[in-house]
Amino acid sequence: MPVTDISHRKKFLNQDNVYLPHIAVIEKIIEETPAVRTYHFNFKDEKLREEFTFEPGQFGECSVFGVGEATFCISSSPTRRDHLEFAVQRVGKVTNALDRLGVGAEIGFRGPYGNSFPLDFLQGKNLVFVAGGIGLAPLRSLIWNVIDNRDKYQKIDIVYGARTPTDLCFKYDLDAWGADKTVNMVTTVDRGDENWKGKVGLVPVILEKVAPSASNAVAIVCGPPIMIRFTFPALERLGFTPEQMITTLEKRMKCGIGKCGRCNIGNLYVCRDGPVFSYAQIKDFVSSEY
Ligand SMILES: Cc1cc2nc3c(=O)[nH]c(=O)nc-3n(C[C@H](O)[C@H](O)[C@H](O)COP(=O)(O)OP(=O)(O)OC[C@H]3O[C@@H](n4cnc5c(N)ncnc54)[C@H](O)[C@@H]3O)c2cc1C
Ligand code: FES
Repeated sequence: MPVTDISHRKKFLNQDNVYLPHIAVIEKIIEETPAVRTYHFNFKDEKLREEFTFEPGQFGECSVFGVGEATFCISSSPTRRDHLEFAVQRVGKVTNALDRLGVGAEIGFRGPYGNSFPLDFLQGKNLVFVAGGIGLAPLRSLIWNVIDNRDKYQKIDIVYGARTPTDLCFKYDLDAWGADKTVNMVTTVDRGDENWKGKVGLVPVILEKVAPSASNAVAIVCGPPIMIRFTFPALERLGFTPEQMITTLEKRMKCGIGKCGRCNIGNLYVCRDGPVFSYAQIKDFVSSEY
């Protein structure tokens, strides 16, 4: 997988103090699940709003003033520039503080950071997206990017799962992709309820039943560690090589820019060398953690 050149992104960082966030305003909040919200936001500075660019897979450090910072991937697509989005699962200090903010509230955002999904490498290939829970957030940015440039890619399979129907994120996207005749959308849950008419089963099991061909294909995987642990072997059984599997890693971060050493995994910094990696790059490191 080619390494992404990130030098051109420096112009969007505050040059005098790289840790100083840009001020942004929350414009819309979508309740995805009882624990996950999507925030639509825009920079206050009009020039920055127009000039800001990012690529699918990149992340930013979001600050709630007086509370702290947390890392979120940008879940919207650069092909849809009206606003930016991230989806947030409430787990701790910053995410709970965000949950108390409403539309119109100001937050800080610094980034974009990290590499991105290798669009050049993906072009002309069959794409297999495999996601679980809020793991669809970074893939969603890429999926919309691919759909908005549909003629550059071949077949698209999406296998997405959550624990229960209530835990499915981005239901409006699942509906849109399900209605798109050029996309094979498969949604599954671990446990259905009385209204659930779709598939029931764990993501790796359903993926093997869908059985996408590995020929000229790349699988892009993101989800909870337990899903990842069983998905890579499932893809290997389907004939995918480690070079044909891509994932985006989450590792606790502080600076986000390769300075503090908080996010290392083996000899890699997830913030600087990732968060997007091929399985070939990380399989020796992640087997103990994932
Ligand atoms: C590249 C990247 C992209 C991400 N994208 C998203 C996203 O799009 N949406 C999203 O919701 N989350 C995302 N995350 C995860 C998110 O950054 C964390 O969940 C973050 O810690 C939340 O901040 P918090 O202050 O609310 O939680 P915290 O108060 O920091 O705690 C969060 C959880 O981490 C545990 N924890 C605390 N300290 C440590 C430690 N040192 N090591 C390990 N665990 C610890 C806590 O016990 C708690 O369970 C991403 C992370 C990375 C690295
Ligand atoms: S978060 Fe500081 S080096 Fe990666």
